[in-house]
Amino acid sequence: MRNPEIPCYEDLLRSLGALFSGEHDLVANTANMAALLFQSLPQVSWAGFYFRRGRDLVLGPFQGPPACIRLPWGEGVCGRAALSGSSLRVADVHAFPGHIACDPLARSEIVVPLFHDRRVVGVLDLDSYVPDRFQPSDEKGLEAMVRLLESAVDWNPLAETNC
Ligand code: SME
Repeated sequence: MRNPEIPCYEDLLRSLGALFSGEHDLVANTANMAALLFQSLPQVSWAGFYFRRGRDLVLGPFQGPPACIRLPWGEGVCGRAALSGSSLRVADVHAFPGHIACDPLARSEIVVPLFHDRRVVGVLDLDSYVPDRFQPSDEKGLEAMVRLLESAVDWNPLAETNC
């Protein structure tokens, strides 16, 4: 039976749609999405974003302990998922060659790439202190949430001018 304390991804998708409603700001929407995931999903120690900046992924809005600021493109779990353009679930980060340990207590991780104009522009990253925390249902649910995010944000905020 479903535990009413743990929201299903359908509920989370609805909540996310409400949070995004009428708002297209990248920072505001990714900040609220990180907060929603961190607050709603059990056994998640970190939830947040990295965005592509040249040859690096740079830390964006997140919830959890302070994290590594720059991750080299193609390296670590985030960099590998970004390079491949596919979600990556890692049941045991200690067994993942090149894993970048921002929090030494993290044991499992899931990364979902973000696309704009068919190019990877960043990743959503979730960590857990529990081994094998993230299942195919999490991958499917998080990918649906990321698709909603991609369609909800203005990916060229710097094109706007202040004058
Ligand atoms: N473990 C990640 C680094 C980011 S943190 O988990 C927040 C990686 O290997 O890419």
